[in-house]
Amino acid sequence: MTRIQVHGGVPLQGEVWISGAKNAVLPILVGSLLGDSPSRISNVPHLQDVTTTMELMGRMGAELSISDRMLIEIDPRSMASFEAPYELVKTMRASILVLGPLVARYGRARVSLPGGCAIGSRPVDLHLKGLEALGARVEVRNGNIEARADRLTGARIIMDTVTVTGTENILMAATLARGTTVIENAAQEPEVVDLADFLISMGAQIEGAGTNTITVEGVDNLAGTDYAVLPDRIETGTYLVACAMTGGRVRCTRARPSHLDAVLNKLTDTGAEIEVGDDWIELDMRGRKLRSVDITTAPYPGFPTDMQAQFMAMNAIADGTSVVTETIFENRFMHVQELQRLGADIRVKGNTAIIRGVPRLNGAPIMATDLRASASLVLAGLVAEGMTLIDRVYHIDRGYEIIEEKLSGLGARIKRVGSAET
Ligand code: EPZ
Repeated sequence: MTRIQVHGGVPLQGEVWISGAKNAVLPILVGSLLGDSPSRISNVPHLQDVTTTMELMGRMGAELSISDRMLIEIDPRSMASFEAPYELVKTMRASILVLGPLVARYGRARVSLPGGCAIGSRPVDLHLKGLEALGARVEVRNGNIEARADRLTGARIIMDTVTVTGTENILMAATLARGTTVIENAAQEPEVVDLADFLISMGAQIEGAGTNTITVEGVDNLAGTDYAVLPDRIETGTYLVACAMTGGRVRCTRARPSHLDAVLNKLTDTGAEIEVGDDWIELDMRGRKLRSVDITTAPYPGFPTDMQAQFMAMNAIADGTSVVTETIFENRFMHVQELQRLGADIRVKGNTAIIRGVPRLNGAPIMATDLRASASLVLAGLVAEGMTLIDRVYHIDRGYEIIEEKLSGLGARIKRVGSAET
């Protein structure tokens, strides 16, 4: 089992380029199955979840090719089976995103019911309710979701809860339904907008993506297209927090500043100096005192839950006491006990954590539990005295492209080690 070894104490300096967004590329890849001809997707990050998605689509019969520059071509014309088996779904819950495209384009789907994960029970009831509203017959049997439809019919769907992939599944299905679909209380995340823009470039008729009401006029068919995935706002936020924690100066290039308003506001509150350009963000914390900030997560454009763990790591060494409240997932504090092993002073009460900044953290062996928690542990290792050894780094590889190369490029003392070397 490989681990990541970090020696703390180096202020990060320099430039880091931002990869394509994991949470945009996954729905866009499966959205290409809606087309009658091949699509070419670029700016694809090299991540385990992308590999898993490609394996899933390949198993269904789609022809996939990938260039050395991670340009992926998908030809859906050879699709032959419409199943997403348990052994793949259990490694990547986002496999549920094949449901909408399969039912809309091929009239049937069998997708293993995703189990829970470290951060919560992660139900998909709203995905299924939405597809049923569009006329699909949906059953859950022997751990599988079985969905069938001759042709979906547009409907007005009010989402009980704001759900990103739930909105995305219904949006994709509605593009080929007969008539008009209106999705109320829709997720407004930039990744939903990127998926909508991709579908529009395939010929879909969508309005309102990025607002809480999305209207889709169904069409009879969609064509393949060329599309570049938007930059990853969570990866960007993660490197900016790393810079603030280590007291350095870093510029994130190939970024999309407009997608990070809530995060940049909070980083400014910590005392950081921030400058933005069209496609870059620079944070300077040299010689500045890091102040702690209160965080409450919320659906976009609120503060993103995917940045909560990273800000908690930062609060752990910031000046003052802070309160972090997680409103999206019921168990997204798995990083707390690992940060406590490094010396953080954190108390959890329900979905709220109270963090008292300490002068320093001390390196120790710790364990990653989920994607964003593992990122927060790497950040803590960048400031902890001595060596921190993070186990189960496969969590990190799901969502961060070459994280140790990118951090090493900024001066961090970080490397991947086999379980033998410690
Ligand atoms: C997406 O997950 C992201 N994943 C998550 O990123 C992100 O944390 C989350 O949105 C919130 O922003 C992808 O886009 C692949 P939700 P998703 O449905 O869609 C409840 C990462 O680290 N809910 O928006 O699964 C649910 O329990 C990952 O990159 C239902 O009750 O999240 C949660 O409390 C982690 N029923 C809330 O909605 C449903 O049918 C929001 O979940 C669906 C969701």
